[in-house]
Amino acid sequence: MREVASRTQVEVPPHDSRDMAVIRARGAENVVVGQEIVRHRFASRVIHWSVAVSLLLSLFTGLPIWTPIFGWMGTLFGGLYVCRWLHPWLGLLFAASSLVMFVYWLKEMRLEPRERDWLGPKLIQYLKYQGEDSEVGKYNGGQKLFFFAASLAALVLLASGIVLWVNPADVSQELREVSWVLHDATFILFTVAIVGHIYLGTAAEPGTFGAMTRGTVSKKWARLHHPRWYREVTGEDSRRP
Ligand code: HEM
Repeated sequence: MREVASRTQVEVPPHDSRDMAVIRARGAENVVVGQEIVRHRFASRVIHWSVAVSLLLSLFTGLPIWTPIFGWMGTLFGGLYVCRWLHPWLGLLFAASSLVMFVYWLKEMRLEPRERDWLGPKLIQYLKYQGEDSEVGKYNGGQKLFFFAASLAALVLLASGIVLWVNPADVSQELREVSWVLHDATFILFTVAIVGHIYLGTAAEPGTFGAMTRGTVSKKWARLHHPRWYREVTGEDSRRP
């Protein structure tokens, strides 16, 4: 669907290239516009932000239900009673947008055999900014694993959430208890992962956030973080000049 196949280069003066790239990013992806590369087309960004917003709203309406420590958050939505009603619907919205994101990105997120070590030492090296890898494509192994972890978390939250939503008389006490544990453990682990994701997408790697807002990144950013993708899209050598 969105293969890095066609090597489309558009020649424009440097001062115009950012604006031109943003316009191009409405419908195209993996194209070079001057010194910019379109990384996420408009549709990808809408899907990503639907997942992000629905997750954050689910979290902020769920926390006051979880513990009175976060009771103050409930007042932002009109009180605990409103949160209890709203939270499952926001959760459904999150699950639905996660499903769309899963289908949309699945092809690009398939782990290559050489990326399996991201489950262990490679992830540690990456977090320590060690071990340059010139074979990193559009997404690195860590991003792909995060994608699958987020999809799995959405599934577990949905399944356990439905059990907790229905009339308690319709499900066994054991199933409700298992669902509480699963729902709580998943949202806690997921929240930690999301904090890491937000950090990596903003402060830790300057230039990344624009990929999800404007849709574009600089050529320099692509050469540094995703050298193979840079070579595929630009046809240029990714070694530093
Ligand atoms: C609310 C704050 C968030 C920010 C600032 C943020 C930022 C970003 C950015 C900048 C990218 C592009 C990375 C790249 O192109 O290399 C991205 C990708 C992605 N985001 Fe988010 N995101 C947020 C929330 C979320 C949430 C809540 C989820 C999922 C539940 C999520 C799932 C993903 C996935 C699966 C990708 C693609 C793989 C990756 O880059 O890790 N994001 N995000």
